[in-house]
Amino acid sequence: MRLHSWEDDPGDLRAVLSPEERARADSFVFPRHRRQYVISHAFVRQVLSWYVPVRPRDLRFGTGPHGKPRLDRPAGAPGLEFNLSHCAELALVGIAREAIGVDVEAVRHGHDATGVAHYFHPAERRVLDGLPADRRSGAFHRGWTRKEAVVKAIGAGLTIPLDAFEVELDTDAPTVPRARGPAFPTGRSWHLTHLEPLPGYVGAVAVPFRPATIAAALVTGPVLPPTRAPGAGIPAVQDGWASPYESPTGR
Ligand SMILES: CC(C)(COP(=O)(O)OP(=O)(O)OC[C@H]1O[C@@H](n2cnc3c(N)ncnc32)[C@H](O)[C@@H]1OP(=O)(O)O)[C@@H](O)C(=O)NCCC(=O)NCCS
Repeated sequence: MRLHSWEDDPGDLRAVLSPEERARADSFVFPRHRRQYVISHAFVRQVLSWYVPVRPRDLRFGTGPHGKPRLDRPAGAPGLEFNLSHCAELALVGIAREAIGVDVEAVRHGHDATGVAHYFHPAERRVLDGLPADRRSGAFHRGWTRKEAVVKAIGAGLTIPLDAFEVELDTDAPTVPRARGPAFPTGRSWHLTHLEPLPGYVGAVAVPFRPATIAAALVTGPVLPPTRAPGAGIPAVQDGWASPYESPTGR
């Protein structure tokens, strides 16, 4: 499993997008949303082309029944799953050979979680209520990103009620969500990993295997480095555009 995240403005990347992606970008009312969409989708294409022998602009995508994007497997390429999350200036892409869901959020300190937390399972709300005020916001963001990562890994998104399963809120250790209602599909067991891709951001990744390790790179320069051949594997770390914050290997 590998994660790539990115934070910067590389300029105009529309040329690498499909006509459908450009049309969706144009449909956003606010320029910052348009920009975020263009950057993060160009980034998805760039990251995927590190793994399959296809140029970013030539990659093709389909969607699952609830809109989860998937890569149309190019001839001869290994099957790969990916998932994207974006928040403010950060885009995070997770890549795995099996289903994967990622979520990242900017932590809002002092954020009163009580309104949104009513979507949580009652046991989770009790945990939140029992925490000292200074730990509540962190616990809420951990819970929220973990739940989103799980429903995104499954591909059903918010069609699965967030109170149909329970996640740990007050630890950064790897955890396993527990089914708490019939709406949570029981076919697979999921494993959650906590992420802090940048100061001020918290995230989670969910996969249906115990990740021994995660390889992750925070990309901070041009999204489309000009020198990589498609399918050549992830780039070596180069000053100015990639710096791993954790670099063990994994599946
Ligand atoms: C997927 C979902 C959880 C997004 O969460 P979010 O925190 O707002 O946004 P994130 O930045 O983390 O993720 C957005 C990305 O997730 C991906 N995504 C979209 N649908 C997805 C799904 N069903 N499963 C997994 N990933 C999905 C896309 O790449 C999307 O990026 P894009 O909007 O730029 O194309 C939410 O929009 C959702 O539940 N969608 C599913 C569709 C749905 O339930 N529709 C209701 C029909 S009644």
